[in-house]
Amino acid sequence: MSAPAVTVVPATEQNWRDIARVRPAGRQRDWVADATYYLCLSAYGDLWRSCAIVADGETVGHVMWAVDPDEGSHWIGGLLVDAGRQGHGIGRGTVLALLDLWEREEPSLSGTPFREAALSVSPDNEVALGLYRSLGFLETGEVEDDEIVLRRARG
Ligand SMILES: CC(C)(COP(=O)(O)OP(=O)(O)OC[C@H]1O[C@@H](n2cnc3c(N)ncnc32)[C@H](O)[C@@H]1OP(=O)(O)O)[C@@H](O)C(=O)NCCC(=O)NCCS
Repeated sequence: MSAPAVTVVPATEQNWRDIARVRPAGRQRDWVADATYYLCLSAYGDLWRSCAIVADGETVGHVMWAVDPDEGSHWIGGLLVDAGRQGHGIGRGTVLALLDLWEREEPSLSGTPFREAALSVSPDNEVALGLYRSLGFLETGEVEDDEIVLRRARG
């Protein structure tokens, strides 16, 4: 089966309920917070921007992004595909959709040109690590909150 077309759509008053319904599978709760936590972080903080992951017209996940105010990298956070929709290329499509968004639309979105993508991941989250490495993200030796940092220069 071919991977579904994936888009990332900013969280709004129209779609936040659909994003809040997204759930990880059992043990994955060690690696991600609830989608509602990420939505609040974006709504009440001034850094992250939550988005719905939309595949085949349906909201199937959450992802958020931010520009580090100190070093200007574009960070991916809170990537979560609903347990029932994992393993069909949606996580991969989401990261590619964000990279494409930044390549096409920055610096208009944040005011910062897109030069480098960054993210952090728990070292025992093998599926996520494999995904990021396969997309060209490289470990840097940096550690943040017990997670390893990976970076990818703009292609
Ligand atoms: C990590 C996550 C976002 C990946 O999303 P996904 O839609 O399931 O991933 P994809 O279908 O795009 O697959 C990406 C790769 O992982 C592999 N993969 C996916 N699920 C897998 C599983 N359960 N076991 C082994 N490999 C798996 C796929 O085979 C694919 O590799 P390939 O392209 O070489 O075949 C998703 O599993 C998730 O939401 N996990 C819980 C939250 C989490 O850990 N987020 C990351 C925080 S840093």
